[in-house]
Amino acid sequence: MKILVTGGTGYIGAHTVVELQQSGYEVVIIDNLSNSYPDVVQSIQKITGILPVFEKIEMCDKRQLEDFFTRNPDIAGVIHFAAFKAVGESAQYPLKYYHNNLFSLINLLSCMQDFHINTLVFSSSCTVYGQPETLPVHEQSPILPASSAYGETKQISEKIITDQTGTTELKTIMLRYFNPIGAHESALIGELPLGVPSNLVPFITQTAIGKRDYLNVWGNDYDTPDGTCIRDYIYVADLAKAHVTALNRLTGTANEKKCELFNLGTGNGNSVLEVIHSFERVSGIKLNYRFAPRREGDVAKIWADCSLANNVLGWKAEKNLDEMMLSAWNWEKHLAETGNN
Ligand code: WQD
Repeated sequence: MKILVTGGTGYIGAHTVVELQQSGYEVVIIDNLSNSYPDVVQSIQKITGILPVFEKIEMCDKRQLEDFFTRNPDIAGVIHFAAFKAVGESAQYPLKYYHNNLFSLINLLSCMQDFHINTLVFSSSCTVYGQPETLPVHEQSPILPASSAYGETKQISEKIITDQTGTTELKTIMLRYFNPIGAHESALIGELPLGVPSNLVPFITQTAIGKRDYLNVWGNDYDTPDGTCIRDYIYVADLAKAHVTALNRLTGTANEKKCELFNLGTGNGNSVLEVIHSFERVSGIKLNYRFAPRREGDVAKIWADCSLANNVLGWKAEKNLDEMMLSAWNWEKHLAETGNN
């Protein structure tokens, strides 16, 4: 079965391509390379032995997308990752986020309808919950005003997809990620954003390897035990596996539901300082960090109730924080050894 993975050269996308190939799916990647490198497909091949087909496509250009689907008539389903995803950046450039994240989705859904592709796994986010009043959040928790344009684009995207499933043959599973971190056990793929990382873990490992002078901890005056923000950090390969499980559920005959939503987290919350201390423990390196003002768009604390994914999808996150941080550090060292950082 041939699956299109949009944003498949990106961090979560690449890890999902590995799991798809190892589960017997044929994969085609499209990506505009706005936040990733094309040579990740060679790294995927080193892991799986299979070179994924890759095409550089700008999904906001509907003509490009229509032309792609015309040339690839045998696509059975789509996993849609392609989007901008930095909470802080979206607070600075909201229009860039609305334009990119919504136009690419609308063009994709329109093409899927025209080309009769009715299976979609969608990359959503815990940012749709805003700042929850009660924790942990479950799938029926209130959708509060998002704290960033990024979160808004995910709220709107979920609504667009839900409406599309209500009026067409489209079947979808939307996955609300918490905080994906770490790298594949081979250390051949991992998180490598273009330029200065906005996410915490790559900034930690780049500081430790000497690429960055110090880490800013954005705010230590939150209403949390140590004053720093709390997130539910989930191992990227565990998250990737959930996409294969979701795809199997969508394409299997057992499931007649047209639109399902699942939280993908661990159920545990860890503060920024706890993540730093975990890194120091597994690497043996004292990290150079300093407290700085809060970052616009951040919520103070959020972690998942992921019992629905555990019980209905039959999926559960495996790795703990120390294992995840060690995998991230191994990846950073691999980049330094191969001169790719
Ligand atoms: C985590 C914490 C920062 C950088 C991510 C994804 C988003 C979504 C949710 C999937 C915050 C602090 C960070 C730094 C810091 N996932 N931090 N110094 O904002 O929770 O969002 O998970 O859809 O797409 O981006 O992750 O890693 O940016 O921040 O103190 O240099 O680390 O303030 O409290 P975030 P993050």
